[in-house]
Amino acid sequence: MSLESKIKEKKATIGVIGMGYVGLPLAVEFAANGYSTFGIDVDEQKVKNVNNGHNYIEDIPNDRFEKCWKAGKIKASTDYEGIKDLDIIYICVPTPFTENKEPDVTYIINAADGIAKGLRKGQLIILKSTTFPDTTEGIVMPILEKTGLRVGQDYYLAFSPERIDPGNKKFSTANTPVVVGGVTKKCTELACLVNAQIIEKVVPVSNPRIAEMSKLLENIFRSVNIALVNELAQLCDRMGGIDMWEVIHAASTKPFGFMPFYPGPGIGGHCILIDPYYLSWKARGYDFHTNFIELAAEVNENMPHYVYSMIVEALAHKGTPLKKAKILILGASFKKDVDDIRHSPSLMVMQIMLQKGFEHLMYNDPHVPEVEVLNKKFTSQLLTKELLEAVDCVFIGTDHSRYDMNMIVKHAPLVVDTRNATKHVTAGREKIFVLGSGKSL
Ligand SMILES: NC(=O)c1ccc[n+]([C@@H]2O[C@H](COP(=O)([O-])OP(=O)(O)OC[C@H]3O[C@@H](n4cnc5c(N)ncnc54)[C@H](O)[C@@H]3O)[C@@H](O)[C@H]2O)c1
Repeated sequence: MSLESKIKEKKATIGVIGMGYVGLPLAVEFAANGYSTFGIDVDEQKVKNVNNGHNYIEDIPNDRFEKCWKAGKIKASTDYEGIKDLDIIYICVPTPFTENKEPDVTYIINAADGIAKGLRKGQLIILKSTTFPDTTEGIVMPILEKTGLRVGQDYYLAFSPERIDPGNKKFSTANTPVVVGGVTKKCTELACLVNAQIIEKVVPVSNPRIAEMSKLLENIFRSVNIALVNELAQLCDRMGGIDMWEVIHAASTKPFGFMPFYPGPGIGGHCILIDPYYLSWKARGYDFHTNFIELAAEVNENMPHYVYSMIVEALAHKGTPLKKAKILILGASFKKDVDDIRHSPSLMVMQIMLQKGFEHLMYNDPHVPEVEVLNKKFTSQLLTKELLEAVDCVFIGTDHSRYDMNMIVKHAPLVVDTRNATKHVTAGREKIFVLGSGKSL
């Protein structure tokens, strides 16, 4: 049976290497559409969870996961033994950077090595991890070709970047268009066909390098625009009397040529902060300096420090001794309504405060039960009126939907709001300091 027929008749077995924020939703989508899916992950706990029917990604509805699991459509393992039994293999492993902010593609290399051990004729490999142009053809392909099998004839290879936006209630795997660039025409066709089984719109492009670069463009676009509003927010604070949030609202009424981005305490997560560095590193090999990327990183990475100075200024204005001040951080995750704390700006602010000698830090996050900052463990505190009244300052780092801002402002003595989360609160505005609002202390 050809791979094409197997895909169309739902007889193809789908493999997913890396069952994290990207991999598990992808596997569940295929399983829910009737495909047998098999995850491979080095994390034993994730594998146990999958095999025991325990969903660990908040965005996946539990009943949807359970239905797939009960039907025997989703299974997982820590070893690569089963590779030869898979027809399509998606690679969804992390692509972090090193301490010096250089790309770390060892996870991709390890996954490709694992696949190569069981690679057989007729398989399709799709890399989804975000990475610099030429990873698919320059890194993954040579590892697979060591088997003696040839791309486009014996096996197929494509890059198809992930666009999942955790916490987004409108767009999920199924209704977010996906780009596909195969090494050969047949590779593109097959990768488009399999993606089209679970995704409404599939966009083929000429080759993997276009697809790799398009993903970086999307994330750099966000990084640069966020940096722009972060810089203007600081300017509004310096000038006084101009509220950047109202400025953005006003500019957004233009029906064309403008798209709103919002200031914040910095950027976090596994994408916007990291991916631009993948391209600036690659560009350096061509004696090319990606100035926009570097400038945006400079502004965005300074934001936690700027927010720290806002908190210090607010406390000083009230005459509170800094080191003794009790600070409550609201939101530990890097964005609203998710549990992902990777590179979270809230935690970065906490780290700066600890380094500067603040002794009484507490946090609350309904999605994150505990965190570790500078080897210090913190447990999420119950958000009560007593707690709010007992602290000197509340710092809103993440604007989770579950937060009752009226209650928070009513009981907190001082609020530093970096998300404009308190915009609808009318009472007690004199004790709120919003990033970029141009309000002087
Ligand atoms: N999280 C997002 O919102 C998002 C969105 C778009 C793109 N991406 C990209 O997708 C990729 C994956 O991101 P993620 O957020 O899902 O990461 P993640 O850390 O949540 O998941 C990756 C998984 O891969 C596993 N893993 C690591 N090495 C492995 C190996 N050799 N074999 C098998 N499993 C291995 C890890 O244990 C982990 O469970 C990254 O390149 C990221 O940039 C992420």
